[in-house]
Amino acid sequence: MLILGIETSCDETAAAVVRSGEQVLSSVVASQFATHGRYGGVVPELASREHLRAIVPVVRQAIEEAGAGYAQLSAVAVTCGPGLAGSLLVGVCYAKAVSLARALPLIGVNHIEGHVHSVVLERKQNGEQVEFPSLALVASGGHTHMFHVQRQDGQYRYELLGRTRDDAAGEAFDKVAKLLGFSYPGGPVIDQLASHGNPKAVRFSPPRMKGNELDFSFSGLKTAVLRHVRAAGMEAEIERRRALGRSTARPTRQQWLEVTPPATLHLIASFQQTVVEELIRRATRAAESREVYSLMVSGGVACNSRLRERFLGLAGSEAAPYPVYFPSPRLATDNAAMIAAAAYPRFVAGRFSDLSLEVDPSLSL
Ligand code: KG4
Ligand code: ZN
Repeated sequence: MLILGIETSCDETAAAVVRSGEQVLSSVVASQFATHGRYGGVVPELASREHLRAIVPVVRQAIEEAGAGYAQLSAVAVTCGPGLAGSLLVGVCYAKAVSLARALPLIGVNHIEGHVHSVVLERKQNGEQVEFPSLALVASGGHTHMFHVQRQDGQYRYELLGRTRDDAAGEAFDKVAKLLGFSYPGGPVIDQLASHGNPKAVRFSPPRMKGNELDFSFSGLKTAVLRHVRAAGMEAEIERRRALGRSTARPTRQQWLEVTPPATLHLIASFQQTVVEELIRRATRAAESREVYSLMVSGGVACNSRLRERFLGLAGSEAAPYPVYFPSPRLATDNAAMIAAAAYPRFVAGRFSDLSLEVDPSLSL
């Protein structure tokens, strides 16, 4: 039972072939880093153009690397939202064409459900299962959502418990990195540098919000960092980092360290610590509010080493009396294997889309 997955919701063109929702036969991801890096963020018009360029070779490579042909595929799954409209359209149109040409069932998948399934897939690949009901935290550049996930007769049900009111967690990493002069995407750079600073050096106050106590807010933290940067007069060092980013495609940790004084490393470490603690605080609180036998963390921010260390340190303790699961970094950031995996239960239940499938940039789960 092979499903071809296609993912083009943001700035990665991805295709994968996954067997029965549990074995990745191929997973190809073409990054548009080179296109967007110099703009400090994803430029939607350029993203769709790059998807158009990449989609044919990426899908072809995924099928070849899987050692399969179209004849062996059982279905084609594609991300239909949320994401950038123009980017989503490329994947959905291509998937429809494959479905029509090869008479394969089409399955439209929610990108956020894909992220949740990256953890289920990771476990299954290792011959293990996720214990349900589970609490899923999805933290990426576009989303910060928490769901209570129930599994019954092989089908999944999601109850949204909390979400960000403003910036996503990854977006906060990227914006803070950008205002400090680091290159896009900033999350991995902050992760690398934070271990060189003191996370207790700068105190940021937690967000004060009315309403759902399980919601997140990261924009106030970003503004607090900006205020700190202005007060500390960091223009000259920021300009040095921007110059490094312009002259070098992917500066190394050592190169960044050479243009980042200790006080800034402390600021970075404190910022990361605040985001990590905020994610942990609300996720464990959400888990307390429901019957939960495991906690799954996914999305690009799940690559963060401090977040992993803290969550894994807590797992099984009184504060988090359940196992905590992360996908491997390749499955945590955007990829198509998670889309093919999320489509598997739908395939088994015969819940297919048809050619009227539309993209929905703000699709909810
Ligand atoms: O899941 P993803 O690839 O794309 C979206 O669906 O948004 O997530 C990308 C986000 C970016 O904001 C990136 O900065 C962040 O994940 N990210 C990280 C790390 N690696 C990627 N944030 C913190 N620490 C990391 N190691
Ligand atoms: Zn994503």
